[in-house]
Amino acid sequence: MREAIAMTEEETLKQKYIITQLNGVLADKKYKYFITTYGCQMNAHDSEKLKGILEQIGYSEADHEECADFILYNTCCVRENAEQKVYGRLGYLKHLKEKNPNLMIAICGCMMQQNHVIKKIKQVYKHVDIVFGTHNIYKLAELIQLRLETKERVFDIWQKHGEIVEDLPTIRNHPYKASVNIMFGCNNFCTFCIVPHVRGRERSRQKKDIINEVKRLVADGVIEIMLLGQNVNSYGKTLDEPITFARLLQEIEQIEGLERIRFMTSHPKDLSDELIETIGQSKKICNALHLPFQSGSSRLLKKMNRGYTKEDYMTLVEKIKRVRPTIALTTDIIVGFPSETEDDFQETLDLVKRVGFDNAFTFIYSKRTGTPAAKMDEQVPEAVTKERFNRLLDAVKPIANRNNQERVGKVFNVLVEMKNRQDEHLVTGRLSSNTLVHFKGSEELIGEIVSVKIVKAMSFYLMGEQVMP
Ligand code: SAH
Ligand code: SF4
Ligand code: F3S
Repeated sequence: MREAIAMTEEETLKQKYIITQLNGVLADKKYKYFITTYGCQMNAHDSEKLKGILEQIGYSEADHEECADFILYNTCCVRENAEQKVYGRLGYLKHLKEKNPNLMIAICGCMMQQNHVIKKIKQVYKHVDIVFGTHNIYKLAELIQLRLETKERVFDIWQKHGEIVEDLPTIRNHPYKASVNIMFGCNNFCTFCIVPHVRGRERSRQKKDIINEVKRLVADGVIEIMLLGQNVNSYGKTLDEPITFARLLQEIEQIEGLERIRFMTSHPKDLSDELIETIGQSKKICNALHLPFQSGSSRLLKKMNRGYTKEDYMTLVEKIKRVRPTIALTTDIIVGFPSETEDDFQETLDLVKRVGFDNAFTFIYSKRTGTPAAKMDEQVPEAVTKERFNRLLDAVKPIANRNNQERVGKVFNVLVEMKNRQDEHLVTGRLSSNTLVHFKGSEELIGEIVSVKIVKAMSFYLMGEQVMP
């Protein structure tokens, strides 16, 4: 293992050296960058790292894509429409390049890990300068240098992940809250999902690297962290000295100055009793849990390779509610998985009604090339899926509304995040349950945790009044 550590440190030093070299060449040019991010929080956090590298090179952030000299798309391929959006944008960028000859266009992220996408970009989108994948984002400076020196298009896609490279610069989107990767990749191979194919095998970061990062963030003013992984509940299993996610949380809890801990995503099959107990005892773990169930039909769950039944899921929900009766549960649901019948769909509706989710992210099944589900017979006709999808939305909304109504009249701690976008007299923050609340207040409150009494509830947000101590 020692060799691997030496290798990553060497890699970090190499990249830092290239960043300094490029800064010498580019800093005076006052170039600007613009990044567009698609997909999940993992991608959003990768973009923070990419920003960190670009700013150290000497680029500053542009207000609009049109005035940027470096445009980067960090892509997602979990569903087809995410990919279509990127192709649409790429076509448009051709015109920008005609106007600004210095413009460099780069694309990275999950979509780039697919051979058919690379082929298309090589052939159709010849104005794209740099293409890289999910395993080598830390190399951005090196790829820019290569493009400048060789004047050739750069394609750098790794089929497999390398060692985890630590300690590269990051620009956080918020001063008081931050995301921290605790693991990368996924080993679950749900039959509908492309993520394991584009993000590689599951690997956890060393506990000490995570703890040090959180401590550094807290020293820099962060009070809320979001621990990220495709399946955080299996954190630590692949380390030389295995450790559970619950133990990691217990240690993070000890960090003084840290107020709130969130994490995502939790896979039901790995949500252990130890973890539920840790959530129950914690003072810092937020009152929210994202626990995707995908389908209420145990028959379909088996075909999806999810590793639990509808009954297992309901048992988990009961256990969690026993330790945290008011916890806000959220979920992901897929409609129209191959062979889904009306009876299967009724099981999904039943689960939604029984659990009473605070919010549910609902998706129409999208066929992904290379996944086992894409080859399954009995793909559900689009019209049937759409009709079910609308019925699902109708079922989710009133439940979310009911949960919010129950918050009216109560006082909650709120982390103030920003000025309200529509009304400058208001600020916007989040309850521990992650629910959005707007209330009268000034900018000075941003980054503070304050007491707010809820006065009105809408389906997906609340209105409140600050309660003075
Ligand atoms: N690792 C997370 C999910 C990451 S993908 C987990 O296991 O919970 C986020 C969500 O996208 C999934 O929960 C699923 O609901 C949805 N999704 C994934 N593949 C999909 C597909 N092919 N079609 C439609 N939705 C999909
Ligand atoms: Fe995809 Fe399943 Fe892995 Fe989540 S756990 S990323 S849904 S394969
Ligand atoms: Fe995330 Fe999309 Fe990739 S959901 S892991 S950005 S395929």
